[in-house]
Amino acid sequence: MIKKLLICAVACLTITTATADEGMWLPSLIKERIKDMRKKGFKLKAKDIYSDRKASLKDAVVQFGGGCTGEFVSPEGLLLTNHHCGYGSIQKLSSVEHDYLTDGYWAKSREEELHVPGLTVSLLVKMEDVTDRLAAGEQKSDIIAEAVKQRKGYRASIESMYYGNQHYLFVYCTYRDVRLVGAPPSSIGKFGGDTDNWIWPRHTGDFSVFRVYADANNEPAEYSKDNVPYRPKRHFKVSTKGIEEGDFTMIYGFPGNTQEFITAEAALYVEHVSNPMKIALRTTRLNIITEAQAKDAATRIAYAAKHAGIANGWKKWQGETLGLTRLGTADKKLDYERAFAAWAADKPEYAHLLDSIQAGYEKVMPGYYMRELFNESIYGIEAFAYAFQLYNRCLINNEVTADDQAEIRRKYLKDYNVQVDHAIAREMIREFVERMPKENIPQQLTQAIDECGSAEAFADKLYATTRILNEYPLTNKELEEDLFVQFTSWFLPLIIQNSEYAYRNLSNVPTVENWYKPYMQALREWDTERAFYPDANFTLRVAYGSIKGYENADGEYHTHLSTLEGVMAKDNPEVYDYNIPQVLRDIYVRKDYGRWAIEKNGKPTIPVCFLANNHTSGGNSGSPVINGKGELIGINFDRTWRSTMSDIEFDPEICRNISVDIRFVLFVMDRIGGAGYLLEEMGIK
Ligand code: ARG
Ligand code: GLU
Repeated sequence: MIKKLLICAVACLTITTATADEGMWLPSLIKERIKDMRKKGFKLKAKDIYSDRKASLKDAVVQFGGGCTGEFVSPEGLLLTNHHCGYGSIQKLSSVEHDYLTDGYWAKSREEELHVPGLTVSLLVKMEDVTDRLAAGEQKSDIIAEAVKQRKGYRASIESMYYGNQHYLFVYCTYRDVRLVGAPPSSIGKFGGDTDNWIWPRHTGDFSVFRVYADANNEPAEYSKDNVPYRPKRHFKVSTKGIEEGDFTMIYGFPGNTQEFITAEAALYVEHVSNPMKIALRTTRLNIITEAQAKDAATRIAYAAKHAGIANGWKKWQGETLGLTRLGTADKKLDYERAFAAWAADKPEYAHLLDSIQAGYEKVMPGYYMRELFNESIYGIEAFAYAFQLYNRCLINNEVTADDQAEIRRKYLKDYNVQVDHAIAREMIREFVERMPKENIPQQLTQAIDECGSAEAFADKLYATTRILNEYPLTNKELEEDLFVQFTSWFLPLIIQNSEYAYRNLSNVPTVENWYKPYMQALREWDTERAFYPDANFTLRVAYGSIKGYENADGEYHTHLSTLEGVMAKDNPEVYDYNIPQVLRDIYVRKDYGRWAIEKNGKPTIPVCFLANNHTSGGNSGSPVINGKGELIGINFDRTWRSTMSDIEFDPEICRNISVDIRFVLFVMDRIGGAGYLLEEMGIK
């Protein structure tokens, strides 16, 4: 028995030890990795990546909006990110006469750069380990207050690393005058649409261009026409030299959320309970939407963004569950935990930890599941979300005037189609009732369904009687009498009861998070071979690896680079996702590539996207992809869907991030956008 455990301990260690390409490292600690990085082809020093005194690459990387990354590429605040990150801004600036999503946009001068109300860009001023200061009794609020004291645009937060074993202060400076400089037409920036999302081979020119503006002192200011381009301490030099398989790559950006150290039980929940439920419910919703879109062009447009949002998670979770199963992640974790338990058995402070986590999960899982189920089913009904706002803000909090109802309506019933929503409601109410343990279904709902005969019939009654979809403003009394508003009120206890799970994943839900802290500490003591890195939490990280294809299936190798040949092979004027602009067809026919031509199979073509094995996650969209010399070679925008289990277990054999090749970005700017002056600004001669 002991012998078996020992063998396992050794075997499991080699399986889970962070192989060189796994990991999202804290930039301020990158000196601990620099040897490995240099071995793989990185030519710069740790202080070139991060320094809070001198200019370093970190000064060229920004948080773009609320969930993406961007990078400076000129001394005058020119910024690159993804098209899908700029999408909302481009949409906001568009109108029927000026449809920048469809046609693209290129400012021909600074005056034509378009301010995007509400869009912000945040620069990391510094990060600092404040674990000791907190241990010495300093208050978080004092540390934060001191960090931002009298500095324009500063904000700070303290983030937990390693489940509360360490705490880091992050100080940001947020700029509020950000302007759209250019974007390709969606037929390039979103080429392949949802069909190709999470897929390789990929041919999307997923980039857009912005500029950050500052006041005369280079400090943040509200929008003003007197503002001037921000002068970053550092910007990326763009490399037009191209890439080869095996080249070093580094991604510098803000990954949002991973949970690499959860126990087997939590991994099993994701694989077998959470993901299958979410996938099934989204399949139903997507089928209804897709069918309505196929019948009617207006619905196709109205539901395009919603469809994309629902499908994005839907496809990602399918890959995640498949990947966890294929890797046997839960089994490997079980073996690992057994070996850990054997080591911890005679250490009283650690011996109970796995049992405590297990007991914590038993307590927390039902509520966590209920919240997930509610969010994916009932909250997936658009009119529900709207009615709940009316209920919450008009009736409970009494905070909105009749006029505000129009505002709420605009937000929650945007691009709304009642037939689609009604069809979804019939399915979602039924699914909720079928999947929810009986005792947790609001008793008014059970009764209403009984009275109507079925969940579907109850949904029909909701839509037949409600006034909220057609009339506004309604008085509080009218709202109180509305069946849809009443329906939302039945869920209030459930929503309140499970609100503590909001924005949390399985490593930081209450009842387990306190145990994960010592567990993590114990793991680091025990598993000395493993290179630990903190889970992603939308703080700045470095991931590195190399440009690399992979074996997609037995005998089927996917090469690292896609080209214009693939764009042309997909091109089809009949298919919305694959209908490229005519100029690109013309350029292709004439092979008029100029300086952007590369040679493939003896013929000229243009590089488009490439694969690498960097450990990335959601939030890394728009991140700079950097070569060994610290130059920009691409913009990260996706992973392959079969890699998405890397949020729980990274597999260097199969996990690949997808980037748009900077040469394609430049080609599109130059030849399709006619924006050669931007290339000059980037120092490309
Ligand atoms: N899968 C990428 C991400 O997770 C891209 C999503 C946007 N693109 C799309 N076709 N929906 O954000
Ligand atoms: N598209 C994702 C994002 O918006 C990046 C893809 C991923 O999850 O790796 O951040």
